Amino acid sequence: SEGTKMGPLVAAIDQGTSSSRFLVFNAKTAELLSHHHVEIRQSFPKEGWVEQDPIEILQSVYECIARTCEKLAKLHIDVSNIKAVGVTNQRETTLVWDKVTGEPLYNAIVWLDLRTQSTVERLINKTPGKNKNHLKDKTGLPISTYFSAVKLRWLMDNVEEVAEAVLTHRAMFGTVDSWLIWCLTGGQRGGVHVTDVTNASRTMLFNIHTLDWDPELCRYFDVPMEILPKVKSSSEIYGFMSSGSLAGVPISGCLGDQSAALVGQMCFQDGQAKNTYGTGCFLLRNTGVKPVMSDHGLLTTVAYKLGKDMPACYALEGSVAIAGAVVRWLKDNMRIIHSSSEIEKLAGEVDSSYGCYFVPAFSGLYAPYWEPSARGIICGLTQFTNRSHLAFAALEAVCFQTREILDAMNHDYGVPLTQLQVDGGMTSNNLLMQLQADILCIPVVKPSMSETTALGVAMAAGAAEGVSVWSLAPADLATVPTERYQPQINTEESEFRYARWKKAVQRAMNWET
Ligand code: G3P
Repeated sequence: SEGTKMGPLVAAIDQGTSSSRFLVFNAKTAELLSHHHVEIRQSFPKEGWVEQDPIEILQSVYECIARTCEKLAKLHIDVSNIKAVGVTNQRETTLVWDKVTGEPLYNAIVWLDLRTQSTVERLINKTPGKNKNHLKDKTGLPISTYFSAVKLRWLMDNVEEVAEAVLTHRAMFGTVDSWLIWCLTGGQRGGVHVTDVTNASRTMLFNIHTLDWDPELCRYFDVPMEILPKVKSSSEIYGFMSSGSLAGVPISGCLGDQSAALVGQMCFQDGQAKNTYGTGCFLLRNTGVKPVMSDHGLLTTVAYKLGKDMPACYALEGSVAIAGAVVRWLKDNMRIIHSSSEIEKLAGEVDSSYGCYFVPAFSGLYAPYWEPSARGIICGLTQFTNRSHLAFAALEAVCFQTREILDAMNHDYGVPLTQLQVDGGMTSNNLLMQLQADILCIPVVKPSMSETTALGVAMAAGAAEGVSVWSLAPADLATVPTERYQPQINTEESEFRYARWKKAVQRAMNWET
């Protein structure tokens, strides 16, 4: 049958903030054979709160797997050719569940959530010199609402069921990778409670040098270590799928989604970088086996560790909270577009924002500012301003935010990037890509296969010891066809617009004072 001719396949679960996807790749050619995606709901129970239903997350994954398997069957591809599954996920989002019943004890608190703002401010005020970087040496991170530890603290302090489960030794904490792997490998009937180094490095409980949970950090946040998952490398067999058409297939890759995109873009060399435009926007630059500490508001994070006995590689990261989310906001909250893809046409009706600047600081500002009290601002409005200008300003905001983290990255790394490799859902917007090249004054390079996040974790899963159907040897890595966007405006024009943007950011920053 064609199924046997096909050779080994590797699947990826990509559980993002906005959607879940399941994708199947040919391990020899990296060709994407079939996939399915399902949108995920977010709820906003109070101002600044962002939650998701852990069961909906899980069911969306099961649905994606089932639909993709049906599509494969229609293509006469035998699912038994799938030799491994990888899991990549939105990072930091925090869950606690009961290991005896398997029930989640609260909704997942999404990374964007701001409910811990006062806790964060209190923690920073208590540090010597009110220093938000007090824990940075060990964690690579500033104290911020973004990371899991404060979300977990909130759950233990405010949700009775969680407090009770912690007391009775029934609580399990995890980011989305841990929740999914635990459920997919059998949940309370034998699931494994694990995470990988990249996801662990986003919790603020993990020491990025020792690559393990840090007792001092756990004491600082008063988190009992027994509720934490076991930390593994990003590429090894963690367990086996317990049910469905993939029962018995090993789960052997796990990477936070931004790390997975770095791998999927083949950025294995020190100095290589990628920027992914999803709900947020994340620029990661590989710094090799040494962690580089930022002086310009970037994070230091574990990039990947591709095998138990392989060294960990690190990355500098510029994190932007709101990228695709600003388009979703224009659609769902302002209703000026009906579908996200409409933004390109709407913004394309004008050739500039005509002085309108939009700083979407909905969750405060992340890199390089780390200012939780910043709020969104739209300024420079005149009688002339219309929907198209606003749409244009929203797209420009994504580009300006990327410019800020790229500038910080160039300072910290020492060698400027001469082109930017990009991926993620928003990169199908050609206007955005051209604006990005104009605002950065360097070319923007996009792979023609846009699912690089899923590809990255499929590579990790396929290369794992005991699976070994995907070779990561440099000579075997597929060269990816790309599209390039060259800057089309002059530097003065670009600098002028960027200076205006910076002014708008200052106004957003001081909003609450
Ligand atoms: O840190 C959050 C990040 O992992 C979310 O990624 O693609 O859902 O915006 P995305």
